[in-house]
Amino acid sequence: MTENILVKNPATGELIEEVKTNTNEEIEQALLKSHESFKTWSSVNAHERSRLLQKWSNLIQKNKESIAKVMTLESGKPIKESLGEVDYATSYIDWYAEEAKRLYGRTVPANTETKRIIITRQPVGPVAAITPWNFPAAMMTRKAAPALAAGCTFVVKPAEETPLTTMKLIELAHQAGIPNDVVQCVNGDGPTIGDIFTNSPYIRKITFTGSTPVGKSLITKSADTMKHVSMELGGHAPVIVAADADIDFAVNQTIASKFRNAGQTCICANRVLVHESIVDEYAQKLATAVRQLKLGNGLKEDTDVGPVINKGGFNKVVSQLEDAVSKGAEVLCGNEFNANQEKGYYFVHPTVLKDVNEEMNIMQEETFGPVIPITTFTELDRAITIANSTPYGLASYFFTNDYRTGVYLHENLNFGIVGWNDGAPSAAHAPFGGMKESGIGREGGTEGIEPYLETKYLSIGNL
Ligand code: SIN
Repeated sequence: MTENILVKNPATGELIEEVKTNTNEEIEQALLKSHESFKTWSSVNAHERSRLLQKWSNLIQKNKESIAKVMTLESGKPIKESLGEVDYATSYIDWYAEEAKRLYGRTVPANTETKRIIITRQPVGPVAAITPWNFPAAMMTRKAAPALAAGCTFVVKPAEETPLTTMKLIELAHQAGIPNDVVQCVNGDGPTIGDIFTNSPYIRKITFTGSTPVGKSLITKSADTMKHVSMELGGHAPVIVAADADIDFAVNQTIASKFRNAGQTCICANRVLVHESIVDEYAQKLATAVRQLKLGNGLKEDTDVGPVINKGGFNKVVSQLEDAVSKGAEVLCGNEFNANQEKGYYFVHPTVLKDVNEEMNIMQEETFGPVIPITTFTELDRAITIANSTPYGLASYFFTNDYRTGVYLHENLNFGIVGWNDGAPSAAHAPFGGMKESGIGREGGTEGIEPYLETKYLSIGNL
């Protein structure tokens, strides 16, 4: 007998809803349906798939307020961010509704008059997705929209912490007219469902957003059936503030990057490297601005920073803070907590640390919490070395108004996403994804539909 999922509000610990978990048989059945409906869905013409996607997007927008409220309740993120995430989520559907109509093939000149070579694109097949709790709407639509646009069928397993937003979006997809078997949601234990997905002969592609260790395990398990994989994994984003940077602007953008979703994003600023000549001014301005951020329940309209998702996340942040302070970091603000283990909520006050060095864990590991560690550099090459000295390669940021410095940094930072005077680079029309252990593949932009397509070539002879 499988236990139900108890979805709780991370701001209060209160139960929001009990979600039925699917049995293994039900999940297998969902994959079979995905396989069986692939033939019909992949032959629906691209303009019709586009129309259905657009209808789905419109329905989500119509229900924006209620979806945002559910998202805040289950994820803890401030309501203004949840409203923003609904827009972000539909922007992927809108983009891929258009891309569906542009899945062009090619003809290649043959080397003889008696042949023709024609290259076509076709959907990879049924897709299984595993999505995270930090963006329960946008990380799902970023996968579902290109998959459906390409002609793939789609099964998603949302994070146990935040299944409600995803379930609501899937319900709206059905209301929009996308057949029930074409887009499905299953709930349950992550590792069990991961195994069912990866072992299934019906699933041709696995797409995952989450931690690097889980991503590696999914890749290994997908090898037997040679599934396509897209992995959007961990990050450890550096922010380099050059000597000539506009300090006020850099402060503002560092905050935008770091405190989105209480620092629980894969691309948020995780280590700030500031030129020694300006570090005092930058750090003081940053700490002053961070002290103004309002910590609290995300349902309150003036909340800027919500709770961290759970005890595990909280313990990691606290342990990084203890380690940094014990090794000499100076606390400019924060390093205070409002946590109640019995009730089940965990708040970390927005924190700024100065005099951080590479010996501290916070400079080596992803934090996933509202903490900014600041260190200094004098030579740009040293900043680049520190920035690149991580197995991760998702996002990086720098602030400079000198174009030579900017081009040099861009060319030498080994990250899939680079924000130059930009702390918020994400967009449906741009390819999001990482290098090294941050993942495989890109989501968004024209690149984001490629992983859902196979290339086939036809050689016609004897003409
Ligand atoms: C993530 O944290 O992985 C997603 C962030 C984004 O899309 O901006």
